[in-house]
Amino acid sequence: MSISRREVLALGGLGLIGAGIVTVPISTVSAKSASQLSARDMPRPYTSAFTIPPKLQPQSVTVDPDGSLVNHYNIAMRQGTAQILPRQSTGILGYNGTFPGPTIELDQGTRAVIDMRNRLPMRHPQWGHHLLATSTHLHGSASLPQFDGYASDVTAPGFCKYYQYPNFQAARTLWYHDHGVHFTAQNVYSGLAAMYIMHDPIEKKLLPQGDFDVPLIISDAMFAADGSLGFDDRDHSGLWGDVVLVNGRAWPVMKVQPRVYRFRVLNASISRSYRPSLSTGDPVYIVATDGGLMPASQAVTNWRHGSAERYEVLIDFSKYKAGTRVELRNLSNPNNRDYTDTNKIMAFDVAALTPAEESHMKLDPQWNRIPQSLAGSHVMSLTEKDSEKTRNFRVQRSGLAEPWTINGVTWEDVIASNFKLASADPRLDAVEVWEIENKSGGWFHPVHIHLIDFQILSRNGKAPFPWERGPKDVVYIGENEKVKVIMKFGPHKGRYMVHCHNLPHEDHSMMFQFRVGLAEKDIDDCDPILAAPPTLDPETD
Ligand code: C2O
Ligand code: CU
Repeated sequence: MSISRREVLALGGLGLIGAGIVTVPISTVSAKSASQLSARDMPRPYTSAFTIPPKLQPQSVTVDPDGSLVNHYNIAMRQGTAQILPRQSTGILGYNGTFPGPTIELDQGTRAVIDMRNRLPMRHPQWGHHLLATSTHLHGSASLPQFDGYASDVTAPGFCKYYQYPNFQAARTLWYHDHGVHFTAQNVYSGLAAMYIMHDPIEKKLLPQGDFDVPLIISDAMFAADGSLGFDDRDHSGLWGDVVLVNGRAWPVMKVQPRVYRFRVLNASISRSYRPSLSTGDPVYIVATDGGLMPASQAVTNWRHGSAERYEVLIDFSKYKAGTRVELRNLSNPNNRDYTDTNKIMAFDVAALTPAEESHMKLDPQWNRIPQSLAGSHVMSLTEKDSEKTRNFRVQRSGLAEPWTINGVTWEDVIASNFKLASADPRLDAVEVWEIENKSGGWFHPVHIHLIDFQILSRNGKAPFPWERGPKDVVYIGENEKVKVIMKFGPHKGRYMVHCHNLPHEDHSMMFQFRVGLAEKDIDDCDPILAAPPTLDPETD
């Protein structure tokens, strides 16, 4: 076995936990590849050009009685192909048949209605699970329960569902992805994931916009010899691909101007966590987390990034000479499986400016600015004293053949209760502290709470990491970690999910629900399955 320099460094670093030094346990130094591609079919780092997913235009815009604009979108989930590999094409499932799907971008206050049509085949073309029924979740949005992608609120092929999104929250990076019960992992991995960007005036004043506001959707994949996606979740532990994709391209290279860029980094991997870091050793500046702007920017040289978390980062390329290549590397985290090139994510090539670009750049107030103070929010001003109740949750699995559970509960138990079983029942507008504990050293769990934004109060009794000091909706519960979060439950009543965002864990069946502002016997006007059922799709193409 040949050991890379990085592995030697990592092994040498064992025992130096903390102080920003990352260690990789020996067990994660594994085989060279997960894909079965021949050497010439395997993509190589930094050989493909960076691309940005297309923006989706609304089909029409109407005005609600209260004066709010409403964008109407139409999306068909379809089978398609993607050009990821140098010589073969790869079958995917995508929103409008693309991988990743089209980006929705709008302003706070503009509502959205999506006619989400399931035009997928009845069965998954490769893994044949029984029915390709989907549920679409807009992750980061306080949507009503019936539009929140409740796992068991599924839309079968040939049907469509009208999803409504309020977009009243602060500017943030959201994403929409499949949430269909038991097959979320396969569906998201096959391509049912896309970005959704909401702007507001505060963020527009502070941070780069337009061409300098760039989505980075990071995922990983493994490929079969014929170029199709491989799927191996190792007894529902996790899928660890050997190819890292950014916006659907393998280790791409982006040409950048010598100025400040804003990157909206989303980890859309179904299991893998990353620890991004620049090859120059220079810091990046974290400016926003899942729920939008942080109170203050944070300079970090790397950050731990679990599935579904979003970090907006500023990178200042103005300090590099034209011709410099800056790599975005991955230092990895314990309990991932690393392969030869999973220590790389993408590269930036700093280009010389044309005179036109130069004069244009100097007119942009954000071209060389790293703002210090950003924006406060209600959730970031909460303190433990505001909480009326503390609840404790434990994430675990008792054996390889056992399901993943939270406090011993699985989504199977919720189904068996006819969707009544709720593991928490906060009153509307209650502020609560939730303590989530992972007693295992063998797993990490990125836990997502729907509906609300939370603040991370502490991790193992200490302050949260610098990069997570902003509004969040996913928290990384690392090995032997106990994390406290605080949040206010609202503005909607009803039933919402909590789950691990390692999607094989979620599917098997690390998910429960909580019920806001309702007693179990109350009539639920916003029943997540019954209130807005799918209808037959009138269109047939
Ligand atoms: Cu991004 Cu319940 O999920
Ligand atoms: Cu998990």
